[in-house]
Amino acid sequence: MKALVLIGGFGTRLRPVTYTVPKQLIPIAGKPMLYHVLDLLPPDVEEVVLATGYKSDIVDAYVRGHPLRWPVRTVPEAQPLGTGGGMKNAADGMSDPFFLLNSDVIADIDMAALARRQADRGGVGVMTLAEVEDTRPYGVAALGEADRITGFVEKPEPERAPSHWINAGVAVYRREVLDAIPPGRPVSFEQEVVPQLLDRGLYGLRLSGYWDDAGTPERLLRSQRLLFDGGRGGKGALPTGCFGSGPVAVMTGATVRGASFGRYVTVGPGAIVESGAYVENSILMDGARVDRDATVIGSLLGPRSRVHPGHRVTGQVLGEHGEA
Ligand code: GTP
Repeated sequence: MKALVLIGGFGTRLRPVTYTVPKQLIPIAGKPMLYHVLDLLPPDVEEVVLATGYKSDIVDAYVRGHPLRWPVRTVPEAQPLGTGGGMKNAADGMSDPFFLLNSDVIADIDMAALARRQADRGGVGVMTLAEVEDTRPYGVAALGEADRITGFVEKPEPERAPSHWINAGVAVYRREVLDAIPPGRPVSFEQEVVPQLLDRGLYGLRLSGYWDDAGTPERLLRSQRLLFDGGRGGKGALPTGCFGSGPVAVMTGATVRGASFGRYVTVGPGAIVESGAYVENSILMDGARVDRDATVIGSLLGPRSRVHPGHRVTGQVLGEHGEA
């Protein structure tokens, strides 16, 4: 099977960081979000097709420089085509069936079980479903016998939500699903295509492990906590000469001597945390700098941003070259 990964969105909810970096390359628990998502895939996947759009060249350069275990191909869109349009644009040569993944989903999913469920049930596909309290930002499934999806409402008001089971952003589909997408124009897969698939047999697979969509600063940091707690953030040991608790993921070329760390921190490539500084529950992207005696809590520091000596930053997002 091949895997089609949607990675063309603007990531507006993570601005200003996403003005210069596609959100899928933001490091969480020691590696880019995209690489955590792809970790879900079985080793025998034949090819990973990245349906890119916004900042496609940056994604393409990154995956070339940091090879994955599968052959990877980037299929860029000249203009944003939405989720369905992006799938259609990347449809050539797709396997039958194929995996579909959103690139901002941090989850524990057994992909082999997902493929088996599709083979057992027949129909056009199986969508993984996560149970959430607040369904408003998501596509919500109504479920019938054998977890057949009998209705699907995108971003409903709470009183119109048919359940608390939402599209978890990972699925397996038959190729014919791609044929159902109109070509040459933007298409929302969830709004335009999924409702048409219900008569052909679309099933849900309810997830029981952790799941999060890392699309907002709060959820990005929550995803990082999930990854560390699930053992997917490396050892997370405190770096030599540092103090505190951790886990901390220190990436290549980072300098952290003499700093203190609370729980759940990624120090990105080439980032600097000066002595006397304290960092907790945060992500420092490439070349970000936390000066002496500064404090950073619950924040996302964009590339080459800087927190000046003695300053305190809590719950903030700094874009590239941002200062506090
Ligand atoms: P926000 O702007 O913050 O909502 O983020 P987003 O742009 O990523 O949108 P959303 O989280 O709804 O997208 C879900 C998935 O679809 C993500 O993996 C996106 O990268 C991807 N996606 C969204 N729009 C497009 C598009 O026009 N083309 C492609 N190829 N992928 C898209």
